[in-house]
Amino acid sequence: MIKSLGTYTESFFKDHQKYLEETYPGLTVRRVKQELELLMMETGSTDSLETVYLPHTENPATKFFSNLELGIPLEYITGRAYFYRSEFKVTPDVLIPRAETESLVEMAVNELKSWAKKTDEKLRFIDVGTGSGIIPISILQDLTRPAEAWASDISSEALTVARQNAFNLRFTWSSKSNLSFKQTDRLTDIEGPFHLIVSNPPYIKREGDKDLVHSQVREFEPALALWLDDNEYDQWFETFFAKAHALLVDEGVFLMEGHENHLDNLSKVGENCGFKNCEVQSDLTGRKRFLIMRKSHG
Ligand SMILES: C[S@@+](CC[C@H](N)C(=O)[O-])C[C@H]1O[C@@H](n2cnc3c(N)ncnc32)[C@H](O)[C@@H]1O
Repeated sequence: MIKSLGTYTESFFKDHQKYLEETYPGLTVRRVKQELELLMMETGSTDSLETVYLPHTENPATKFFSNLELGIPLEYITGRAYFYRSEFKVTPDVLIPRAETESLVEMAVNELKSWAKKTDEKLRFIDVGTGSGIIPISILQDLTRPAEAWASDISSEALTVARQNAFNLRFTWSSKSNLSFKQTDRLTDIEGPFHLIVSNPPYIKREGDKDLVHSQVREFEPALALWLDDNEYDQWFETFFAKAHALLVDEGVFLMEGHENHLDNLSKVGENCGFKNCEVQSDLTGRKRFLIMRKSHG
């Protein structure tokens, strides 16, 4: 039977309901229809949900349905993700922004706002492992004082996406602030000092934590953004923390998102690198999620 695109979408949803609910928690027919309408606008198609739908490999809607059947995360299918105050471009080269990272941004903004009260210096901060650039861009959007922001990532593909997001959203923060990008391993060849260093680094142990990770994440999100080798884990963070400590101003702060099973241990690694008041904080679901470490007067 010939169907309109809207009616086809409803029957596709019904036929695949169990699979779609498991693979895309919270996904509704309404959302799928909205995404299809956006897709048609973006591809310059004159079709609408009322147009007769004829499945065809050249039809973007057909590609959309087959991507859903493959279980590709919706953000990678649409190329968009919503985070904090904005819509960001995402590709399979970057991690899909997570809601809990918004708390990391809020913490960073509060720290920089208290720095603004304490000093007339230009505020300087860096985000390490920036991915799509969501963290520095969102921080800049919330600051009332101009800042000099840096973002580093080891992946040149991720940095391309971050730069595009920074360009697209450049009018959403003060023109007196600036954001620069550098491809590097953690903080190598980065010049300080910084009032704040923030990071959502890869923090899942390749072997020890692999069963805790959803198969969709394992299959589709970039390995570089997720995993560290178990036997190098502590050393990886020790190198990172030691360099961060050296690059912070006195009383500078280091904020990091991490894995609930490893943050207590990492706070000890931080203490060994000279940090004081290393504190593990929970996210809104009650899971240990953030590490806050301060550099005391040297
Ligand atoms: C968990 S993702 C976070 C991405 C983004 N900041 C976010 O919160 O959505 C970790 C990021 O760290 C980057 N990364 C991995 N190893 C790195 C290293 N040695 N130095 C710098 N960045 C690294 C990955 O490419 C990835 O973009």
